[in-house]
Amino acid sequence: MDSSFGVVSSIVLGALVITLSSFGFQAEARAFFVFGDSLVDNGNNNYLATTARADNYPYGIDYPTHRPTGRFSNGLNIPDLISEAIGSEPTLPYLSPELTGEGLLVGANFASAGIGVLNDTGIQFLNIIRIYKQLEYFQQYQTRVSALIGAEQTERLVNEALILITLGGNDFVNNYYLVPFSARSRQYSLPDYVVYVISEYQKVLARLYELGARRVLVTGTGPLGCVPAELAMRSPNGQCAVELQRAAGLFNPQLVQMINRLNSDIGSDVFVAANAFEMHMDFISNPQAYGFVTSKVACCGQGPYNGLGLCTIASNLCPNRDIYAFWDAFHPSERANRIIVRNILEGDSKYMHPMNLSTIMALDSRT
Ligand SMILES: *[C@@H]1O[C@H](CO)[C@@H](O)[C@H](O)[C@H]1NC(C)=O
Ligand SMILES: *[C@@H]1O[C@H](CO)[C@@H](O)[C@H](O)[C@H]1NC(C)=O
Repeated sequence: MDSSFGVVSSIVLGALVITLSSFGFQAEARAFFVFGDSLVDNGNNNYLATTARADNYPYGIDYPTHRPTGRFSNGLNIPDLISEAIGSEPTLPYLSPELTGEGLLVGANFASAGIGVLNDTGIQFLNIIRIYKQLEYFQQYQTRVSALIGAEQTERLVNEALILITLGGNDFVNNYYLVPFSARSRQYSLPDYVVYVISEYQKVLARLYELGARRVLVTGTGPLGCVPAELAMRSPNGQCAVELQRAAGLFNPQLVQMINRLNSDIGSDVFVAANAFEMHMDFISNPQAYGFVTSKVACCGQGPYNGLGLCTIASNLCPNRDIYAFWDAFHPSERANRIIVRNILEGDSKYMHPMNLSTIMALDSRT
């Protein structure tokens, strides 16, 4: 009796293991989900009627396929390099028709260039996926995965996933400071606006938690006033534009405080702050130390600092993208992205709070 039961149960168990591993479910890396703006968009906007797209040459010139994919980079972007670090395939854009079947179990990228925390950020880009729509798609994703592996396994996959959210820069660049006397700048002083954006961001993160997120990297904004676009438009002497630096200087510390509050309410370090400002300032203040010839001039663009207009086939293009900190007027080069992701992985408390991604991976593999 005992032994025949053993045989039957091991056959059943074997079938179960085969079923699960045929979905690549058990042995594979944890799932990875990405939310946010152009810094982390892997190509969703290619499927939308918007001008906020990176679907033309020379975008993607150093990508493995050497073709534009919708990433705002010469090659890989920050989510790609995080996928690489956790031993996972790059996430597909949620709108990609190729994201089907067991490919869904790798995760998904919901990010959309041009968006911000606020619904009125990036309105000039028309049809983009605002953050609440990204969260709605995340819910729809979970329904689709449930049909594949069941509700319980789906909940586990989401709870165990790594999540990245990058938001906030556009609430300044493509809203408050988009035009002189913008509606938001007439409504709020800068300090009051920052408090408002942070309070709305808190609702977004709380909703992400409700949807099952349990490990979320939250990047603050970079040094908004130092990007080639702002040097071209607002800096008479090549110094970082003061007002945008002030905005980032108010926003980032309040983001960390808000994350501390959320974590203490939850009673767990669900949200982890990445100090993108410091990560960028290292190579912006001392480009040569990081192997860059410049941190002011974009590789691709035109006008002062190559900071005006879009990066297109007609733009100036530098021959060696690895020696430029900025690829286009707003976005870091792949090499700069690698420096940022190394800091996310291994940085100390100056860069990562309350812990870095290596520590997260070590902790989560034990639980
Ligand atoms: C933004 O839009 C979402 C969904 O469309 C809505 O739930 C939310 O309340 C809006 N936020 C504000 C501040 O109006
Ligand atoms: C970050 O990661 C490294 C391992 O790469 C570790 O030695 C270090 O202690 C971590 N730092 C913090 C602040 O967690």
